[in-house]
Amino acid sequence: MRTCRIAPSILSADFARLGQEVSDVVEAGADWIHFDVMDNHYVPNLTVGPQVLKAIRPYTQAPIDVHLMIEPVDSLIPAFVKAGADLITFHCEASKHVDRSLQLIRDSGVKAGLVFNPATPLTYLDYELDRIDIILLMSVNPGFGGQSFIEPTLEKVAAVRARLDKYREETGRDIFLEVDGGIKPSNIARVAAAGADTFVAGSAIFGAGHKAGYADVMKQMRQAVVDLG
Ligand code: DX5
Ligand code: ZN
Repeated sequence: MRTCRIAPSILSADFARLGQEVSDVVEAGADWIHFDVMDNHYVPNLTVGPQVLKAIRPYTQAPIDVHLMIEPVDSLIPAFVKAGADLITFHCEASKHVDRSLQLIRDSGVKAGLVFNPATPLTYLDYELDRIDIILLMSVNPGFGGQSFIEPTLEKVAAVRARLDKYREETGRDIFLEVDGGIKPSNIARVAAAGADTFVAGSAIFGAGHKAGYADVMKQMRQAVVDLG
């Protein structure tokens, strides 16, 4: 059976009730919480930092997947580790020393990953797979929720899948393949068929407005993946 790990992005949650939103969405079936950090420098928007991560941490035992859209990266890693991140990903272009940033995260006992924008080539993977736990492919340009899925991402997902399957054969190690942006029940099957195992969805899930709605959207998403066979 295909893996379908769903990571709702709290970017589209009700920020005035963030703790409750986090526990509701996990009770509704989420596997991870996706935590989008924006700095109005690397991306043209501003969101949350380690203090907010610390505040929501007691509301769930689900892994919190911290997506850093900040530049520079290294100086803030310890604060996100301390606040309770389980995974930390950052954009290749946002770190002057990608290998060092990956090591900083992993040395803290947190899973580390690289994020690729729609136009970022995959060459950053050439020498770093051994130090990567998760690869995040953006299917929108980072900065905002509610954008449309960029179709050529599917080819990229398939290319990374092929690379990761080969790597697993050689090393026995599994690396997560996550896709972020514009994912909803109507297109998740295509993303899964291309080879993704972890799916971020913000507006599609939180747009449903309440816990029963969140559960319903995630059920539809899982069913679409199951139907692929
Ligand atoms: C975009 C963020 C995404 C975004 C996803 O920069 O990284 O996580 O919130 O939101 P939707 O699912 O609405 O595209
Ligand atoms: Zn994200």
